Amino acid sequence: MDVVAAKGLLAEFKGDTVALGVFEREEKGKVPELFITAKRIDAKAGGILAESLKKGEFTGKLGAVATYHARGLPMRLILLIGLGKRSEFEPDAVRQAAAKACCAARELGVKKLGFCVDSVVGKGVDLEVAGRLLTEGAILGLYRFEAYKTEKEKKEVESLHLITSGNAKALAEGACKGEIIASSANLAREICNDPGNYATPEKLAKFAQGIAAKYGFKCKVLGKREIEKEKLGGILSVSAGSHQPPAFVILEYNGPKSAGKKPIVLIGKGITFDSGGISIKPSKDMEKMKFDKAGACAIFGAFAAAARLRAPLRLIGLAPLVENLPGGEASRPGDIIRMHSGKTVEIISTDAEGRVILGDALSYSARFKPKAILDLATLTGACVAALGYECSGLLGNDETLLAKVESAGGRSGERVWRLPMWKAYNEYNRSDNADIKNVGPPSAAGTICGAKFLEAFVPKGVPWAHVDIAATAWNDKPSAYMGLGATGVGVRLIAALLDEL
Ligand code: BES
Ligand code: ZN
Ligand code: ZN
Repeated sequence: MDVVAAKGLLAEFKGDTVALGVFEREEKGKVPELFITAKRIDAKAGGILAESLKKGEFTGKLGAVATYHARGLPMRLILLIGLGKRSEFEPDAVRQAAAKACCAARELGVKKLGFCVDSVVGKGVDLEVAGRLLTEGAILGLYRFEAYKTEKEKKEVESLHLITSGNAKALAEGACKGEIIASSANLAREICNDPGNYATPEKLAKFAQGIAAKYGFKCKVLGKREIEKEKLGGILSVSAGSHQPPAFVILEYNGPKSAGKKPIVLIGKGITFDSGGISIKPSKDMEKMKFDKAGACAIFGAFAAAARLRAPLRLIGLAPLVENLPGGEASRPGDIIRMHSGKTVEIISTDAEGRVILGDALSYSARFKPKAILDLATLTGACVAALGYECSGLLGNDETLLAKVESAGGRSGERVWRLPMWKAYNEYNRSDNADIKNVGPPSAAGTICGAKFLEAFVPKGVPWAHVDIAATAWNDKPSAYMGLGATGVGVRLIAALLDEL
């Protein structure tokens, strides 16, 4: 779908359909007021909108959509999109409105859709932000995973025209940014939705090489031999139970004016399928563990976004890619392994494998002399228990960095919430037989134990943030602008964070 920003009059739009945002009234039962552009359209259409509102057919409730025939106007249909109450308005409602409009339009067979930008501009949303939010909502909302459907859905919206009476340049800049961010998130979603039998470590590494060549950043892949040579013992231990060899992807992006700067290191958990290994998982919902590579997929998407946005910094991306299966050579509970850092780990559960591969990636990152490290991982079911599905968990060792991640979470619509990292928790991962064990006490601070394990492998003195995306990496139920399956979580968060680093 093309997104076009233009200055113009909505009533003269030469397309199939126009969509307008409408706020709900603060007082119960009051008829919502039409935005001036909508009033103009309504005058030409014989007052059908005002009449419908008066009858209470459409109240402006957030997410509501109503469809009207546009008689007397150049277009076929008018869509009213509810924005909720102005007093409760949050910028994310603009993404939701765009997604609702686009999905409704697609169902109605609309090819060319116009959206009244001025109707969503307000507190915290200027024309540039509106351009970005509308475009993000539209592109994210229309995405669906069809790679393995023999018959693809035929209806597609071909172009979205963002129309304003104001500064079209600012609007276009926002739309351009939104297109890059949302398409990069969809890139991550597409590869993350790919099932374990197709998305093997080797295929994921090839995918990374493909986007590196396409968008202009470097990609090096370590195969099993090189992983052995580098003594990445955590990665080798987790991959031992699968016939699929592991891969370790190393990305490098050098933005404009970044020469001599220390890099930001982005690390993503890339378990292509997590059966639990010998500590095998229950079969219910096990198919969802194809999404256990969401962290790595987000890093790939974030690199595509950074390169396309020409972000003025240096980035290193690390993605250990491994399948966790219980084959004859699999690591067992009780095994003691030696990690890349030289530390020994007692494996209590082979299902706590994410921290083991990430521990290696973290200590490996020291050679890049990072300015800061951010890792993304579907690390713990406990994070779902603690926070539900509304945000990702955030933990780390540096107040300034964590505050930046929190602020990026708010702006990107990918919220994070902090959990503590007090020293007292170190005790939870203490092993009687090795330097550390990979699991803490049962049912106690599971997400913190995971992060505490990772912390033991963070290069000394480097600010580090860990985002646990176990609850946010995929949707079992569609939300306002995010359908079923992989969400690409992390791509928008990182894109927003790059503005601050
Ligand atoms: N990939 C899982 C975590 C997960 C669970 C992500 C549910 C998304 C939804 C991870 O490898 C895992 O199995 N963690 C264990 C850790 C435990 C053994 C300490 C868990 O959360 O149960
Ligand atoms: Zn696991
Ligand atoms: Zn896992």
